[in-house]
Amino acid sequence: MKPSETVTRGSGDKPTSPSLLANPLDFISEDHLRERQICAVIDALATADAFNRQKATTVLRFVNEELNVHLRDEAEDLFPLLARRCTEEDAIEGAIDRIRADQDEAMRLLPEVRAMLAGCLDKGADLSAKERGVLSRFAGHVRRHLVAENAILLPIARARLTRADLRILSKHMRSRRGLPDFPETTDAE
Ligand SMILES: [Fe+2]
Repeated sequence: MKPSETVTRGSGDKPTSPSLLANPLDFISEDHLRERQICAVIDALATADAFNRQKATTVLRFVNEELNVHLRDEAEDLFPLLARRCTEEDAIEGAIDRIRADQDEAMRLLPEVRAMLAGCLDKGADLSAKERGVLSRFAGHVRRHLVAENAILLPIARARLTRADLRILSKHMRSRRGLPDFPETTDAE
């Protein structure tokens, strides 16, 4: 990254800056801050007296444009790299299985979350009690996923992944977002 590029970090109130993709684990960590922020928005939607259109639009944008890509970064690249590099004493397989279970459950609820928010926006209706329950469950699974990854997977990834692994991870994450790879020279510092 060029020194002149500024990177906004720490708030999670906007999509993660692509300039962090040079350090893919930092990008993923930042994505988790973003997810935490969105979970708070979902909780607010689930408990508010009246439907908040702006919050619903924020959540819909996030699930449509960011969440799927983040989950693919992990399922298709981070988890396989970790499985290859980790030793038995890392005991990482059980952790990955639990994290995947929360991801699967969040993904199972996702079409319903999307449909109910889009439906309320279309009709100007409020969320039913059942729909609020689905939103809370969805936020719960997303939150558990990011807490376990921050506490277990990312520290191990920082310790175990090689520089070559990180380059591959960065390259695939950039390509998933339609961005060209960084030039080779960034690796020859
Ligand atoms: Fe994650």
